Amino acid sequence: MGSKISIIGGAGNVGATTALLLAQKELGDIVLVDLPTAEGVAQGKALDITQMGPVEGFDIQVTGTADYRGIADSTVVVVTAGLPRQPGMTREDLRRKNAEIVKTVAENIKRYAPQAIVVMVTNPLDVMTYLAWKVTGFPSPRVVGQAGVLDTARFRTFLAQELNCAVEDVQTIVLGGHGDSMVPLPRYTTVGGIPLLELLPPERIATLVERTRRGGTEIVNLLGTGGAYYAPAAATAQMVEAILQDQRRILPCSAYLEGQYGLHNVYLGVPVKLGRGGVEQIYELSLTEEELAALHNSARIYRQHIDAISHLWQ
Ligand code: NAI
Ligand code: 2OP
Repeated sequence: MGSKISIIGGAGNVGATTALLLAQKELGDIVLVDLPTAEGVAQGKALDITQMGPVEGFDIQVTGTADYRGIADSTVVVVTAGLPRQPGMTREDLRRKNAEIVKTVAENIKRYAPQAIVVMVTNPLDVMTYLAWKVTGFPSPRVVGQAGVLDTARFRTFLAQELNCAVEDVQTIVLGGHGDSMVPLPRYTTVGGIPLLELLPPERIATLVERTRRGGTEIVNLLGTGGAYYAPAAATAQMVEAILQDQRRILPCSAYLEGQYGLHNVYLGVPVKLGRGGVEQIYELSLTEEELAALHNSARIYRQHIDAISHLWQ
């Protein structure tokens, strides 16, 4: 039997675009789950993507439903269910409403797909990933959040534009939560093997770091309604592929920390090895005092958000 991927919130922008990209990778059949009010949209988008198959050369089934029984036997469940940001909102403003949604979603994953690996996307990302881990009760390696692949993609894009070079040659790491407190690491950034610090002056790097931190907000403001979804979907599909193909990719993901970087009982962005077991390893980098302080500041912010919703699992 091939792999099965379910996407909860699949009628929405990030969910449906992730389905499209996964269909093109032909990794397995895909189920789009959404609210009863959006079931027709989920079914319509599923049919539309399936009908790309003959043109694009893939042969998989994509279906839409509002019935959680449809996620049974999923290898991976992606969660994009929830509200996106509107101009003027931070990701954290979404916390209250999305926490209620994610709680229900996680209860259904626990019930209908107890063996799945869960890839969280809903914002505020690190808080929703923690919530999904708590409510499912899954081992922490089987619950992982998507943020760092997107944030590093943004930083890589800005650096390649600045240096007028191939984006594939820019490698970097972003630590911390998926918000303004994220910690891009210029010291761990290389371009074709050359340390970034030898290529750009500190003030230019600082400008691009700041643009990366505000990368999502920049797009929210341009779109006028809702948030980015093409690059977020590509980042999510890359994580799903790494898991299903057991690629053991080293990617920045939101993972459960129990002592790494001196942090406990929090989900936060760190470099991990992602394979068939989910988060198979967490890498601990040596950081300067300043970098470590920035990471701890980010953890402190998300810890407060986690505490504010702890009634949902206690
Ligand atoms: P969207 O509004 O286009 O789609 C959200 C979907 O969730 C809708 O189809 C809606 O009907 C569905 N939904 C709402 N409540 C549900 C429930 N209880 N059960 C099942 N489905 C439900 O929003 P979009 O743009 O797709 O964003 C989705 C989420 O992903 C947002 O929270 C957004 O902030 C987040 N996001 C996170 C990123 C990241 O890097 N982690 C990047 C981009 C978006
Ligand atoms: C982004 O970074 C909204 O989290 C989403 O684009």
